[in-house]
Formats: sequence, structure tokens, C-alpha cells
Amino acid sequence: MENIKSWSAEDEAIIATNTDATECKRCAVELGYWKDEYISYFVKRAERKAPEINRGYYARVKGMEMFIHQFLERCGTKCQIINLGCGFDTLYWRLEDATRAGVNFVELDFPAVTAKKCHIIKRNKRLLQKITSEDGEVMVGAGGGAGGAGGPGAELHADGYHLVGCDLRQAGEVRRALAAARVSPAAPTLALAECVLVYLRGDAARALLAQLAAFFPRLVLLVYEQCNLADKFGEVMLRNLAARGCRVQADAWQCEAPEAQAARLRALGFDAARAWDMDTVWRALPDDDRARVEALEMLDERELLQQLHAHYALTVATKGDLFADMDLNA
Ligand SMILES: C[S@@+](CC[C@H](N)C(=O)[O-])C[C@H]1O[C@@H](n2cnc3c(N)ncnc32)[C@H](O)[C@@H]1O
Repeated sequence: MENIKSWSAEDEAIIATNTDATECKRCAVELGYWKDEYISYFVKRAERKAPEINRGYYARVKGMEMFIHQFLERCGTKCQIINLGCGFDTLYWRLEDATRAGVNFVELDFPAVTAKKCHIIKRNKRLLQKITSEDGEVMVGAGGGAGGAGGPGAELHADGYHLVGCDLRQAGEVRRALAAARVSPAAPTLALAECVLVYLRGDAARALLAQLAAFFPRLVLLVYEQCNLADKFGEVMLRNLAARGCRVQADAWQCEAPEAQAARLRALGFDAARAWDMDTVWRALPDDDRARVEALEMLDERELLQQLHAHYALTVATKGDLFADMDLNA
């Protein structure tokens, strides 16, 4: 057990954000916002959330999906997806149902989170049956692949699916985790960061993204994060995060407007980067999808949703010609 690393109170608070995200997703799924047959395996119950939260999550999940599908359309089979700070995200299983694209799917999070995810997967036939190697074997390991920080059962490896515990703030751990997941620098790669970078602090987040940009010549980075946190509404969001034990530095890029965040990614080594606030993403969703979702629940606090949408952004940064035309309406 000497490999088990101790976590600070702030790390514990960050780890708890995964439970929140999973509960919010489960609530929206139960209300019919989108389909996810797997989310209920990862969180037992979810209290009903306010309509603006449910719509916000819908825009987040659909906005991410829009670009994930654009990526898969452009590279066909032989590609890899790296889910940074994956939490209990069910994307792997949803993609398996939609398309068996030969993707090497890699999930990284703190070992405390990956160990729980491993445990849930191992105990659930439906989750497990979509994760098998050629010989039908699934290997559950002790976290040595990510630098020995994992603890028992923090890793799971199979054909096309790797769940590895590591601290994204440690470049060496990330490198070892990617090697353990058989990630190849040559393959077209999609890196996902859905509500994760804000917890890393600016310098660690920049170092991680620069590391990815340097390693993969054909790369798409898809980021869903806070933006515009420097205004009054943003101040309240920051205070709420701090009250839960997650401090965001005042100079974090999440305080900046989406375009400034995109410029930072270009400076870190991406060929191109574009960012949209979530109000723009919401309006870019197909009219009939929006109309269907708007009919699910009455929304009294329309202004609140607009404010929330103005404080989250979707950013797409690319390296390589294959992805140059990826766009909100492509
Ligand atoms: C808000 S949750 C989002 C989970 C998932 N991406 C989603 O959107 O459903 C943030 C996740 O990032 C992970 N995370 C934050 N900082 C991390 C770090 N330094 N190393 C590994 N994982 C980290 C947390 O443990 C948590 O699972």
C-alpha cells in the first residue's frame, strides 16, 4: 500500500466535483434532455435540478458531441480519444453504441476517481461487456502505469479502452499514463477537457496543454470551461467554487473572454483555435432539438440561463490540416 498518495483537502473537493457533474447529468437524462443508458450505473440517485441547470448541461453535452462527431467523421477508424479528468463520463459506452470506430479510448483522472470507476465497471455486466480485449480479458491493475500513484484497482486496460489514474498536474505521470494506454503520437487524437482545467491552476493547465500540443502532430483539443469570470456574475461563481474548497486564481484564463482563451491555446502550440460562449453554441444547435428541449420544462429564469451561458465557453484548438475546417456549424 506504500504507493497510495495522500490528497490535500483541495484535491478532495476537486474530486467531489465529479459527483456533482454526474448527478446533474443523471437528472437531465431522467427528465428526457438526452439519452444515456449508462449514467444511472455511476450515480445512485439525483435530486431534481433547476431548469436552467438542466438546459445548461444539455448545451454542454450536445456541444461536446457535435465536435466529437466532426472529429470521428474526419479520421474514420484508427484514432484515439483522451478524456482528461474523465470523472464518471459515459462517453465511451455511448460511442460504442453509436459507432464502433476502432477508437483507442483513454480516460484519465485522479486515482481515487479511476479506482471507483473501475469498481463500478467490474461489477456491472452491461458496462463490462463493451470492454473486452481480443482474448476477452480485462486487466485491472494497481496504478503502476501512471507512476505508482494509483493504489489498488485504479487502472483498467482492455482492447480500445484504458482507464488510468494520474495527476494531470504532473507531466511525468501524464506521460506514463499515456504510455500505459498504448497511445501513439502518430494517430489522430482528440483530447477532451470538460470542466477540468479550471481545477488545475493556470501554470499546470498550460503545461499540460503544451505537452499535448508538442506530442501529437494531428490533434483536436475540445475544452468546455468557464469564461468571463472577471465580472460580477463571475465573482459569485468564483465565491461558490471557493466555498466548496476549489480556489481559482484571479489570473486564471477562465476569467477571460472566449476569444482570449482561444488566443492562449494558439500561443501554446496549436495551429488554430476558436471559442464560443454557450449562448452561441445553444443557438447553433438544430432548431428542432432546441424546441424539443425547451418544451420539457418551464423556464422562469430566462435571464439566469443567459448569464450562465455567457460564463461558459466551448473551445476547439487544432493541429494538422485534417481538422482545419472544424466549426460550430460545419
Ligand atoms: C467537474 S468534474 C468533470 C468530470 C467529467 N469531465 C464531466 O464533465 O462529466 C472534474 C474532474 O476533473 C478531475 N480532475 C481535476 N483535477 C485533476 C487532476 N489534477 N488530475 C486528474 N484529474 C483531475 C476531477 O477528479 C473530476 O473527476
